[in-house]
Amino acid sequence: MRVAVGGDHGGGRVKEEIIVLLQQKGIAYQDFGAFSPEAVDYPDFALKVAEAVRSGEYDRGILCCGTGIGVAIAANKVPGIRAALCHDTFSARAAREHNNANILTLGERVIGPGLAKEIVETWLKAEFQGGRHARRVEKITRIEEKYCAGRSKGPETEEWVGRHKGPEAQSQEGTT
Ligand code: RB5
Repeated sequence: MRVAVGGDHGGGRVKEEIIVLLQQKGIAYQDFGAFSPEAVDYPDFALKVAEAVRSGEYDRGILCCGTGIGVAIAANKVPGIRAALCHDTFSARAAREHNNANILTLGERVIGPGLAKEIVETWLKAEFQGGRHARRVEKITRIEEKYCAGRSKGPETEEWVGRHKGPEAQSQEGTT
């Protein structure tokens, strides 16, 4: 798995903690900045990470800012990106299992580094469950197509779609 990591000055310290965690776990990553504590604009870094994930070069992305909100909003403007702001492990697992979130966002000013690292570990381990969730995620893609059609050419080859969709329908029906 290859992970793209980034964030603004508000998330710099937690980004560093996450990088150490990825190193300890032997997970390949690329740091897309910011590289100093100077004030910068979070959409610039959200865009870099979102485009790295969209391109298929990275499987997942992790974005950090003060609240996790700005980077989530910005990243979700990129078609094919499903960025989830998670400040608890239950949401982190569900973001993968139900929503197939390909970017996790965190707010350094909201949670401490210990919880942030547990959230990252949970999110990295969890897998998309497909089934009824695949149908719903597919509907999110249809919304993107409705508003973005013709505006940007992406790498939606069959292989790319397969990797970003997760396992095919496991014919689970339910309401959770
Ligand atoms: C920067 O002060 C702060 O606004 C930013 O890190 C983030 O919280 C935005 O959503």
